[in-house]
Amino acid sequence: MSDEPEAYQTKNQSFCGLEFFVDKRVLIPRLETEQMTKEAIGLVMTNDKIQMTNIADIGTGSGCIAITLAKNLPNAKITAIDISPDALEVAKQNAKTHGVEDQIEFLQGDFFEPLAGKKFDLIISNPPYIPSNDIDTLMESVRDFEPHRALDGGADGLDYIRKLIQDGPRYLAPNGILMFEMEYRHGPAVKKLCPGARIVKDYQGIDRIGILKFKS
Ligand SMILES: C[S@@+](CC[C@H](N)C(=O)[O-])C[C@H]1O[C@@H](n2cnc3c(N)ncnc32)[C@H](O)[C@@H]1O
Repeated sequence: MSDEPEAYQTKNQSFCGLEFFVDKRVLIPRLETEQMTKEAIGLVMTNDKIQMTNIADIGTGSGCIAITLAKNLPNAKITAIDISPDALEVAKQNAKTHGVEDQIEFLQGDFFEPLAGKKFDLIISNPPYIPSNDIDTLMESVRDFEPHRALDGGADGLDYIRKLIQDGPRYLAPNGILMFEMEYRHGPAVKKLCPGARIVKDYQGIDRIGILKFKS
């Protein structure tokens, strides 16, 4: 029997109560990412300092984060980046299905590169974060079917998280928030890289979401 994930066979995955088209061009959206997205919606809605209307989603894949934010935050303008033109095709298709294509600008490029000169109230990312040497040990359904570009986070899995923490502030407006998903072992390293980070555990009690609030 094929280990091909059901979502690729049915070409559908639910995420935050919305249905997303998925195929082998994109990562299948995960429950942990739903949690981060809901956390982001809560943060934006309850932020008393500024109206958080300008949002960037780095590594958008199927567009699940950007589209869910757009549906729940009708005043938000979202810029969604991916290095993969194939993934962006899927994301654009999903944005159209959900009627939010006017709220989201999709840009192809390498991480922050398409954002030069822009500032955001919220930068959110579920970056590739699996250590390179662990890719071969993943379940076959993941290793053999999901795009490795969506998984591989470099030697310790932290390549993109370091980039988010080091370069992110340059793209944040005053009082901006940086939010990202991480691997279950990354909590201590993230705390070391950025002692001010708040780390939220997932439904299984595992370190999963990093949140950094910037003042200037
Ligand atoms: C873990 S997946 C997340 C996809 C989607 N946001 C989600 O949560 O289901 C990471 C995404 O980052 C993209 N990516 C990988 N390297 C990138 C880079 N250097 N610049 C921009 N996007 C990148 C991949 O193509 C993939 O779509």
